[in-house]
Amino acid sequence: MGKQYEAKINALLSKMTLEEKIGQLQQCGPSLVGAFEVSFDELLDMMFDGRISKEEFDKLMAGAKQDFHEDDLRAGKIGSYNGIGDAETVNRLQKIAVEETRLGIPLLFGYDVIHGFRTMTPIPLAESCAWDPTLWVETGRLAAQEATAGGVHMTFAPMVDVAKDARWGRVSEGAGEDALLNSDYGVAKVKGYQGEDLTKPDAMVACVKHFAAYGSGEAGRDYNRVDMSLQRLRDEYLPPYEACIKAGARAVMPAFNDINGVPCSANKWLLRDILRGEWGFDGMTVSDANAVAECVNHGIASDRRDAARQCLETGVDMDMTSNSYIAHIKELVESGALSEKTLDESVANILRVKHELGLFENPYQTSVEREKTAYLTPEARQLARRSAVKSMVLLKNENVLPIAAGKKLGIFGKLADSRGEMLGPWAIGGHSEDCVSIVDACKAQGIPYIYCDSTEQAADCDVLIAAVGETKDLSGEAASRASIELGSEDIALVQTLLDTGKAVVVVLFNGRPLAIPYLAEKAPAILEAWFPGVEAGNAILDVLLGRENPSGKLTTTFPHTTGQCPMYYAHMNTGRPGGKSKFTSKYLDTPLEPVYPFGYGLSYTSYKYWGLAVEKAANGLNVTVYVKNTGERGGDEIVQCYVRDLVGSRVRPVKELKAYKKVFLSAGAEECVGFHIAYEDLGFWNNDMHYGMEPGDFVVSVGSNSAQTLNQTIYLDC
Ligand code: GLC
Repeated sequence: MGKQYEAKINALLSKMTLEEKIGQLQQCGPSLVGAFEVSFDELLDMMFDGRISKEEFDKLMAGAKQDFHEDDLRAGKIGSYNGIGDAETVNRLQKIAVEETRLGIPLLFGYDVIHGFRTMTPIPLAESCAWDPTLWVETGRLAAQEATAGGVHMTFAPMVDVAKDARWGRVSEGAGEDALLNSDYGVAKVKGYQGEDLTKPDAMVACVKHFAAYGSGEAGRDYNRVDMSLQRLRDEYLPPYEACIKAGARAVMPAFNDINGVPCSANKWLLRDILRGEWGFDGMTVSDANAVAECVNHGIASDRRDAARQCLETGVDMDMTSNSYIAHIKELVESGALSEKTLDESVANILRVKHELGLFENPYQTSVEREKTAYLTPEARQLARRSAVKSMVLLKNENVLPIAAGKKLGIFGKLADSRGEMLGPWAIGGHSEDCVSIVDACKAQGIPYIYCDSTEQAADCDVLIAAVGETKDLSGEAASRASIELGSEDIALVQTLLDTGKAVVVVLFNGRPLAIPYLAEKAPAILEAWFPGVEAGNAILDVLLGRENPSGKLTTTFPHTTGQCPMYYAHMNTGRPGGKSKFTSKYLDTPLEPVYPFGYGLSYTSYKYWGLAVEKAANGLNVTVYVKNTGERGGDEIVQCYVRDLVGSRVRPVKELKAYKKVFLSAGAEECVGFHIAYEDLGFWNNDMHYGMEPGDFVVSVGSNSAQTLNQTIYLDC
């Protein structure tokens, strides 16, 4: 970023007391005080583990109020808040900071705007299935316009943690298992959130997270250890964070996990050498919630004083809600255990971002007036609906879909009328009542239907819709599952409906790949809807009734069973590739192939691929292929281009996505689709920790998904 604020930053630093410097590092969370003796988090635990009922919890909450620690704020001990999203509160606290503290340094308000602020769009995993950077920018821009109306200056997003293990609940929050898609998704969101000018009142800082490799926690268990070669870390997990930094993201959140034994919040190699050194990042870092203090749990710090010292020296600028910095940095500096220069660097990073947001010149960037017309506009809902349609993946269709006009729908399953579930697991600003369920949409659109509570009612219907899958609390943070099999109740419901002999359509709601071999075998039609956001019901009917032609493609592999996790397309071949003979890499009790592969998705039309051509150019490969729409209606086809390096000084994946393009083709139309793949992108990190392409044979594969491709081998020398 430019150096235009350095003089102002240094001038301000020279006036700041030690306490005021430390205050800038302090981020306060939404803490609640009320008629309960325990902390809000403990109260949540008590509800989740059943020590108090939901009703008791709600009653206690009704009597609670948020504690904003105004006295600390006046004393200059707070630099930022997390989780406040209304203009009145934001401006009231900002006024205290600007007018009642000695130096008037404005506050920075952070919030988890993961897939929308009030107009919830589909969860990131869903939206990644659109393979559509233009769309991702649009919904990012919408999120910023709404969130900044609520007073938000920074969102803790995009999350670009490559996730290859479906047991991990937070696979819902990113763009799936592939580094290129996570990179493109993250870059698009950075552009959408930050816009062209961060000083604009509708721009907010993108905080890229979770740095790094949080999605590869052992056994798919959240917060668990990450242990891998530095080559694999650089090849498969770091690229999306780097892409977001290069795209101009101004904040980074270190991950909860360790990498090879060093927690990210205390990992100098990661935060100093890579982030600041190699990538030249000069924005700010903010810890994850309580992560500074949790260095003690990790066992890298002996106490919170030690944790505070290590994390600040590592380059964690802001302490999110652990209160470790505010408690210990003063003594650490005064005792000489921590240099004030180190403290100054972090304060400068934070002041720089506050300047870049224009907060010193314009600390009040929203108003109650602006808020009144900011949310859920008709245009916002239209975008949310379009995004939901593009995010859905048609997994199976044996001539059941689209449903002809006038057919009476028999709708089954709680998820068909659970508005709140449509929000997904990370929708803090979302309201259940904003959502349109399948039943709501049928009612509003005059579609003949019965919302059935018994299968006898199926007799009066033409097509049966089974809404099954996960509730939103089964994915997201702290929601790893040791079994990703579809629930037995869901399977029983589908079987009962199939036994009626009627046409059955399964609509799947979930925040991760589920193991659905039963559905894949028995259900005549399956629409993967994920958690589609506020326009869920309308978008689902758009697809089921054929108003829209589905085009989404999976960005995560769907295994047969949990035992195959982690399962991903860019796997290694091994010395004994899985096959029929006994002594090969496979399972005795489960097929080796996935139920649905990465990149898979059907349409109401069909496409034919032919004429793959691969040519060497000066700095890369030019790849072309012909695609024809051989069906009766127009559609978007996501053409995917993979490459395999057949022989290398380290073994290479059987294929890696290197490019993709979504093309619209009218019925009968054909197009020559072209890709350019830079030789630079065919490299990898070798045993000497150098990156580069090695000469040899490469297989170029182009097709409609990772398992169905045209292939051509070409020799490349460097
Ligand atoms: C959570 C999440 C992180 C989020 C933060 C602030 O624990 O790990 O993604 O941004 O807290 O809410």
